[in-house]
Amino acid sequence: RIDLVFHSAVMANSHRKLIFNIYIGFYCSAVIQICICSQFTSSSIDPFSKDRGAFPVATNGEIFPWRELRLPTMVIPLHYDLCVHPNLTSLDFVASEKIEVLVRDATQFIILHSKDLEIMNATLQSEEDLRYRKPGKKLTVLSYPAHEQIALLVPEKLMADLRYSVAIDFQAKLADGFEGFYKSTYRTLGGETRTIAVTDFEPTQARMAFPCFDEPLFKANFSIKIRRESRHIALSNMPKVKTIELEGGLLEDHFETTVKMSTYLVAYMVCDFNSVSGTASSGVKVSIHAAPDKWSQTHYALEASLKLLDFYENYFDIHYPLAKLDLVAIPDFESGAMENWGLVTCRETSLLFDPKTSSTSDKLWVTKVIAHELAHQWFGNLVTMEWWNDIWLNEGFATYMELISVNVTYPELQFDDDFLNMCFEVIKRDSLNSSRPISNQAETSTQIKEMFDALSYEKGACILNMLKDFLSEEKFKKGIIHYLKKFSYRNAKNDDLWSSLSNDCLESDSASGGFCYSDSKTTSSTLAFLRENVEVKQMMATWTLQKGIPLVVVNREARSLRLRQERFLNGVFKEDPGWGALQERYLWRIPVTYSTSSSNAIHRHILKSKTDTLDLPEKTSWVKFNVDSNGYYIVHYEGHGWDQLITLLNQSHTLLRPKDRISLIHDAFQLVSAGRLTLDKALDLTRYLQHETSIPALLKGLEYLELFYHIMERRNVSDVTENLKHYLLQYFKPAIDMQSWHDEGSVWDRRLRSALLKLACYLNHAPCIQKATELFSQWMESSGKLNIPTDVLKIVYSVGAQTTAGWNYLLEQYELSLSGAEKNKILYALSTSKHQEKLMKLIELGMEGKVIKTQDLAALLHAIARNPKGQQLAWNFVKENWIHLLKKFELGSFPIRMIISGTTSHFSSKDELQEVKLFFESLKAQGSHLEIFQIVLETISKNIKWLEKNLPTLRNWLLISI
Ligand code: BES
Ligand code: ZN
Repeated sequence: RIDLVFHSAVMANSHRKLIFNIYIGFYCSAVIQICICSQFTSSSIDPFSKDRGAFPVATNGEIFPWRELRLPTMVIPLHYDLCVHPNLTSLDFVASEKIEVLVRDATQFIILHSKDLEIMNATLQSEEDLRYRKPGKKLTVLSYPAHEQIALLVPEKLMADLRYSVAIDFQAKLADGFEGFYKSTYRTLGGETRTIAVTDFEPTQARMAFPCFDEPLFKANFSIKIRRESRHIALSNMPKVKTIELEGGLLEDHFETTVKMSTYLVAYMVCDFNSVSGTASSGVKVSIHAAPDKWSQTHYALEASLKLLDFYENYFDIHYPLAKLDLVAIPDFESGAMENWGLVTCRETSLLFDPKTSSTSDKLWVTKVIAHELAHQWFGNLVTMEWWNDIWLNEGFATYMELISVNVTYPELQFDDDFLNMCFEVIKRDSLNSSRPISNQAETSTQIKEMFDALSYEKGACILNMLKDFLSEEKFKKGIIHYLKKFSYRNAKNDDLWSSLSNDCLESDSASGGFCYSDSKTTSSTLAFLRENVEVKQMMATWTLQKGIPLVVVNREARSLRLRQERFLNGVFKEDPGWGALQERYLWRIPVTYSTSSSNAIHRHILKSKTDTLDLPEKTSWVKFNVDSNGYYIVHYEGHGWDQLITLLNQSHTLLRPKDRISLIHDAFQLVSAGRLTLDKALDLTRYLQHETSIPALLKGLEYLELFYHIMERRNVSDVTENLKHYLLQYFKPAIDMQSWHDEGSVWDRRLRSALLKLACYLNHAPCIQKATELFSQWMESSGKLNIPTDVLKIVYSVGAQTTAGWNYLLEQYELSLSGAEKNKILYALSTSKHQEKLMKLIELGMEGKVIKTQDLAALLHAIARNPKGQQLAWNFVKENWIHLLKKFELGSFPIRMIISGTTSHFSSKDELQEVKLFFESLKAQGSHLEIFQIVLETISKNIKWLEKNLPTLRNWLLISI
């Protein structure tokens, strides 16, 4: 998601051995909590006397009365009054809060989350104290940093069913990194550096900004006040009600009380940004904020946000509940964007669009980010998962809704094909044994962070798309609206979703008994509903509670189709000794679809067992499964199946839909990796591409050929590298020569141009280098004023970066540029230099964090590692500077996972594998364990195997093809 090259990085994945016992684990911890609570609430003497040793020790040496990572549920928050005063000169903040809590079970302590906060004072008032204005009773504060918790010990037991108010004064430094309440800086056109303060809380960082019940289930209302100087503005989730002037000229902004929400969605900031605003059809005021000199880049985001907000309000039939929505471009931001309710924060490149330097892909990214974060205002903010194990209910849905909303609001972006590619991308991850189920146990902060990966996002979205295709769009839409309405301002889990999806009427429609009777409902339709409910739930359990992706093997004999399902494993062959064990107990309910040569009809069937047989109504010359690639499975055609399809592609490829052509290319190469299809057969399949009229299909084929080129180049297999280069240039020459160097045509025309010219210049195709050099020189001569077409900008910079003068000039321009889109392109170009000392210089600048911001370090290391001349450099650097990197980013965070996978997963030799293994073992010995380690090791093993098996085939195929 934060990549210099492709916007979506394939991120870490967490692997659990437990497959079907997620809920068992969940219940167990609940039981333990209950035991502990009653231990404290029932004993009237010393609560600690029973089992002293089992409790942790607080920082002051006293016993800390709670031992679980999860908070107890004896006390729940109702309302927070929070007043924060950040000082942008001394870079710290002082704050106070009052939390109104409800005691559900009598207790002698309150456990809150708090991390790196200095608590100055804590007091407690009962309702009676409040009524009679009695001062608060002082509370003893214990802290247990290992669990990021504090305990407030009360002098007298808190009584069940009563409300209390807890007041806490606290202070801290503005954080250095990207979490909690942190500082961010930017440079003005005039060269001045300015500081702002901003929050970023998801998943578990609200506790760094104020003591709170920092779990998604503890929803409450928040009344926020922010103190600031008059040269600044303050923003928060809600509209400002008033500003009061304090002594000394300080201003205090009061914001309206929020709706009921989780702590991770709270946000506020103090800055001196400018904004543009507009009004959505429903009257909601939408504003885009950015640093003053970047104001001119905000207009596209405003247009997109207004369109998308209108779309969602209509689609969900639920009003966006706040009066305003702000989206802010933050100069230092760790992830891509964050959906804080009413105050969406973004990386500059995720929100700003500069017509002079932003390409079509950049525009698509901004649109996708806004579509995603606005979808969260419903999926995530209004309805939140109960716990982080089901974070896919947030992220999978927001990712799925990108498809639905962008297709309607920006059809010209043809987002469908991107969505399909995204599903292919996650299949790579999910077909390793180290994958994990979508819904997965997560306890520690690191584990919770690791849940934000391709499986929660992309696999989540892809299986939702499959379910939509199975249920029909209309029914699916009704179901999700039902889910959103039913669980508004509340939390939900997997099963709640499945029930809503099989129940297409609202709670209010149901007369009695919790069943749904709508329209002409009778008892039999109730039964049908119950059956369907079980059906959806059973089907979806196989996709969310079980890891991996199925392979459907089709064997056709005359009119009979024999189907078989297996677990698809990349890099493990059926002949391998371990294959059988890896298959055991895997079974999916697969909604298969197929079309045949005899009609346009889409046939449907649910494959529930390992094998099944279908009868075709008539004789056909070919069968294609997984129509439009809506299903999350790979298809293998045994016997003559593939040959028939290859013949079909060569004779009249347009008889198949474009997405079916893309999926054939994809599946064929995946089957090669799994040892089911020979590489030459898959390569033969791509020969039809010279007649291909669909650009996404053409690009899919090109992607694989380019990939092989990069593998050969990295491994220094010079004969194959040369021949492949020759083949690529010869095969795509007509297409390359047709390209103009202007931004013109449809989105896909423009993406084809970028891809082909990038390839041509990378392969040193003379006309390409010549044109790019010419444009680069003109650009330098114009002192960077000349506008180069945005689709070829990165290519021109990359060619320019190959000379020392060009490289140095680009670095100067990097520092000066105010466009994040341009900076990313320059940084990528700089990273393609063949000179190691230049690459090292970039890494040093990235570590220093001034010219190259720390937020871009992970993408930079990734980019350098992709450069054959930089791969060893980047990897050595990571090994030697691991400790320094961990000071910049948290373990389990997005950048750390990107740095690890980005600098290692392209390795393909046994020595490299051994080296990486040793490094991971040393990290584990130091106490750092990440699930990405196993993914990387499996990926490298898979690469090794691929080469062993396919290099001779590739070599021979090229010899007969050029
Ligand atoms: N909720 C996430 C932000 C987030 C990411 C929080 C990781 C905690 C950990 C946000 O909605 C998101 O998904 N952002 C994406 C961009 C999106 C367009 C896919 C991101 O940051 O990569
Ligand atoms: Zn998200």
